[in-house]
Amino acid sequence: MDYEKLGQEAIAQIEAASDLDALEALRVALIGKQGSVSALLKTMGGLSPEDRTLTGPKIHGLRESVNEALTARKAALEAAEMGARLASETIDLSLPSQGVPTGSVHPVSQVMDELAEIFADLGFAVATGPEIEDDWHNFTALNMPESHPARAMHDTFYFPGDAGQMSPREGGNATRMLLRTHTSPVQVRTMLAQGAPLRIIAPGRVYRSDSDATHTPMFHQVEGLVIDRDIHLGHLKWTLETFLKAFFERDDLVLRLRPSYFPFTEPSVEVDVGFAVETGPDGKARRVLGGSGDAPGHGWMELLGSDMVNRRVIKFAGLDPDQWQGFAFGVGVDRLAMLKYGMDDLRAFFDGDLRWLRHYGFSAFDQPTLSGGVGARP
Ligand code: DAH
Repeated sequence: MDYEKLGQEAIAQIEAASDLDALEALRVALIGKQGSVSALLKTMGGLSPEDRTLTGPKIHGLRESVNEALTARKAALEAAEMGARLASETIDLSLPSQGVPTGSVHPVSQVMDELAEIFADLGFAVATGPEIEDDWHNFTALNMPESHPARAMHDTFYFPGDAGQMSPREGGNATRMLLRTHTSPVQVRTMLAQGAPLRIIAPGRVYRSDSDATHTPMFHQVEGLVIDRDIHLGHLKWTLETFLKAFFERDDLVLRLRPSYFPFTEPSVEVDVGFAVETGPDGKARRVLGGSGDAPGHGWMELLGSDMVNRRVIKFAGLDPDQWQGFAFGVGVDRLAMLKYGMDDLRAFFDGDLRWLRHYGFSAFDQPTLSGGVGARP
């Protein structure tokens, strides 16, 4: 038998196979269990030892070259198929989108825009600071020296390295880097950069090692800071009341200022808002903001931390506390969004689930404005 000719014919067929299906059919016909080359291999058992040494290598050689040809043709066909697919699935991103845009604005972005709009009307600028912060701005300059117990409450993510190096500034460690645990360091950065007087809000991401239905390792806060001459608690109360009434779009909102403690304010208050317990359309009890929390069927809900900026913080930030005073506040942006728009699990904010985003997201055309209403509904 002319094994060489057989091989050439088989290889010619393989090279002519026009697609992967045809090639697979050929493979089965040649070297499959019932294939013609396999059948030749089986005949070897019946050969005399002499014949076997003569024809054995030829049959094996035939099988090998058929195998190689199959592998090479398969690779070539697959490459051609991929090339055709890439060519047919090209998307021209410079073309205009068809129909209406399908993306939506995340509730956190929406609430931040609402806050910027409300506070711009009160004369506040938007300030920013780095999320990778140093120990000095995040803690020391906010009156939390190295050994301060309040640091333990922050569950801080520290970066490795440089941990032992002390800062020249008042014993704080300026080189120890961390993910900021709150937006309060932006107070210090803005005072250092801009001096006084100033009025800012600083929205942004903050990080703490914490996770459950109402805590995620990354979340959002907004900081507020007013520095001027003769600022007192009355200014603070009016500002917070005006802000919260505009944000929740309710004139009957009642605030309760409760004595508290933050190292960076003196005195310090926690601000509660009154709510009523009502039965929702689904029959479940829900909290609706408004009215005094002391009324029957009402309660108080803690909302934000605040008060007069501690003299030591003003000094750390390079200003003279005998001339400049101010107030500050900090509040969770995600929490504001949950209260206003009714989500109950914070973790879903950051899952990127399209169904959630479509349900709670906002139209990109629905920019919050004071004249048009800051409370666009999803
Ligand atoms: N930084 C505080 C926190 O993350 C919140 C806070 C409380 C900010 C009081 C302030 C403030 O500006 O005055 O828990």
